This record gives sequence, structure tokens and C-alpha cells, in this order.
Amino acid sequence: MKKLLITIDGPAGAGKTTSSRMLAQRLGYVCVDTGALYRAVADRALKANVSPDDDAGLENICRDLNISYRIQPNGNRLFVNDEDVTDRLRTPEITMAASAISARPVVRRFLLNVQRELGAKKGAVFEGRDMGTVVFPDADLKFFLQASLKARAMRRYLESPPETRQSVSEVEHDIEIRDKNDSTRIHCPLIPADDAIIIDSTDISIEDLIDRMAAFAIERIG
Ligand code: DC
Repeated sequence: MKKLLITIDGPAGAGKTTSSRMLAQRLGYVCVDTGALYRAVADRALKANVSPDDDAGLENICRDLNISYRIQPNGNRLFVNDEDVTDRLRTPEITMAASAISARPVVRRFLLNVQRELGAKKGAVFEGRDMGTVVFPDADLKFFLQASLKARAMRRYLESPPETRQSVSEVEHDIEIRDKNDSTRIHCPLIPADDAIIIDSTDISIEDLIDRMAAFAIERIG
């Protein structure tokens, strides 16, 4: 059966992570959360005290990073230099640092290669900000998810671990800043690809969303 490379782009909290995981599961595909790659670089930069505008420092960090996704009994896990970092990259501090370092071309260049290598085999759903526009412009099927700021902030609030939980208005504020960073940066800003299917997920259930996306995928598979 024909295998597709599917991309899902959109702002924080629009439903990309959940929908990419569920769509991949439904189709028997792998799912790659590319935001986690930016978070992994940000995590290292914070630990090494490298600031987001120190390009030489960021380049050194990238050079030493060995990133891989491994399928484990508990899902698709992200390993950095043999450490499973999947569950510890979603703190507010790493989130904001990831947004800042993702504007740096040196980081984007490095991760572009990593992402394209991961996508060399089809049968994958990639989610991020520039999947359909820059990383995989020839993808077989592209989605762009959006939702109201309020709905996105509430989702992020509910999914955050209680130990590091911010108030809803703090989450909303951080999302607004990230939206602005991500969509106004010069390099690879967050915009829908011309051929992306745009879906607003504010008022639809995740099950309906997956049904809609899967219907497009099945049509493309033929
Ligand atoms: O999807 P996320 O919240 O985990 O992404 C973290 C940050 O990484 C986000 O602020 C923007 C950046 N990012 C990006 O610039 N390009 C991608 N393909 C994925 C994420």
C-alpha cells in the first residue's frame, strides 16, 4: 500500500501533538514531534548557560547532539546522546528557550538535516511549524491546525504537570509571546503552506478531528 509523508503545522495548543500521535496510530505510521528537537537543543543551551543569541555556542551544542527517535513499549521516545529526554522537555523555562533558539538559523540548519533524515522513509506524520513549507515541501498531505487563543491556553494548562503548572492567564500570555516569535521570525516563520488543508480545532472533538484527517489520508492513499 502507498505510504504517505504527512505534515501537521500550527501554533502551540492547536492540537498537533495529540492529532499527529493518533493519526499515526490509526495509519500504522511513525510520528515525529519536531518541537521536541528544538526543546532538546534549548535544554542543552540552558544547562551550558549558552544564550539564544550566541550562535557559536549554539553551533557547538548542535555539533555534540546525537538525536534519535526509538520505538519503545511506551511509545516513540526521543533520545539525546542515549538519554531518554521525552518527558522532561515541557517545562515553561525550556518552552520559552525553545521559542528563542528556534529563531536562530544555525539551529534551524542543523535540525533541517536531522528532520529530513528522519523523514527519508515514508509512512510518517511530522508535526511542527515549518514542516509543510520548508522541511518537507513535497509532502503528500499537509495540514495546518489552528484554534482560538483561549482554547489553546486551556488545553496547554490542562496537559501541564501539576508540579510546574502555571495559571491559565500565564499560559495564555506565554502562548501569545510564542505565537508572535514563531510567526514573525525571519527564518521559517509559522505560516500555512499554500497547499495545506486548514482546520480550526476550537470546537471539534479530537475524535472528529482524527476522522477528518484520516479521511483525507485514505483518499490520498487511493
Ligand atoms: O511544538 P512545541 O511547542 O514543542 O515547539 C517548541 C518551539 O519550537 C516553538 O516555540 C517553535 C519551535 N519549533 C519550530 O520553530 N519549528 C518546528 N518545526 C517545531 C517547533
